Amino acid sequence: MDTYYIDGKFVGDDRALISVKDIVVLRSFGVFDFLITYNKRPFHLDEHVQRLENSARYIGLEIHHTNSEICEIVQETVKRNHHHMESAIRIVYTGGISSDGLNPDGRGILMVMVTPRIELPPRWFTDGVKIITVDVERFLPSAKSTSYLSAVHAIQQAKKQKAIEAVYVDRNNRILEGATTNIFFFKKNRLVTSHRDILPGITRSIIIELAKDFYGVETRDIDSSELYDMEEVFLTGSNKEVAPIVKVNDLQIGNGRVGEHTRRIMQLFRDYTNSYGQGKHRLQLPAICTQTGFA
Ligand SMILES: Cc1ncc(COP(=O)(O)O)c(C=O)c1O
Repeated sequence: MDTYYIDGKFVGDDRALISVKDIVVLRSFGVFDFLITYNKRPFHLDEHVQRLENSARYIGLEIHHTNSEICEIVQETVKRNHHHMESAIRIVYTGGISSDGLNPDGRGILMVMVTPRIELPPRWFTDGVKIITVDVERFLPSAKSTSYLSAVHAIQQAKKQKAIEAVYVDRNNRILEGATTNIFFFKKNRLVTSHRDILPGITRSIIIELAKDFYGVETRDIDSSELYDMEEVFLTGSNKEVAPIVKVNDLQIGNGRVGEHTRRIMQLFRDYTNSYGQGKHRLQLPAICTQTGFA
């Protein structure tokens, strides 16, 4: 059995319960963050907790813990799950009890759920995968709130089309991000990723830092018409890491195989996570984000 932290206590996962009166249940008023471990070390925990705090501020949810308290609780919860080879960590902060179902009465609840990390199919990374595009605009996109209805719905559509992710396109035909990933593409030796109205992915920031030494990196709006000129495409995210894309809807990308630049990015990320896990290397990432935009 896994051990979770909930509202001041460490308990078996089957005893981690919240009230049905918590406003997160009926109104999805809460925030969360997700990260994994490498060599049992939570990967860039500080940045994930900073993003949780930012998310809470954007949606107007009060957090009654300091960032360092949350980091300590996460570290302790990971330690209590030492039976995992590697862990997936979900940090959730609920809006708390609401008497009228619209206004939180007071304090929310902090939960840390630590589960075994599930390995993704290796052929995704050797052969590349398909994604689809969907018309979605997230409300307050810089916040990772518990309200992920559009993501769940988009992933259902993706699965029906044998795709692993759905990428959001907005009313201005801008390609924004995936349901739980950020998107990058290569064109003429330059690496491009969208820069606003997205969640500031921690993996995205790391890839920008790692890629800078090898490629010109552009962070800008991406028009959906650019799909036709993309030479290589990949997604980044805490769970999928760097996932090569060879098909978008019915459009083949490049020659339909994982391209050499993407393979290099995957290797750079693998090397970095290995050395991070051994405590040897830690990139200084730019400040997580502001509400209006970030680099
Ligand atoms: C909407 C959205 N965009 C991007 C990401 C990728 O962020 P990260 O690299 O920090 O996992 C996520 C991850 O959960 C997400 O939910």
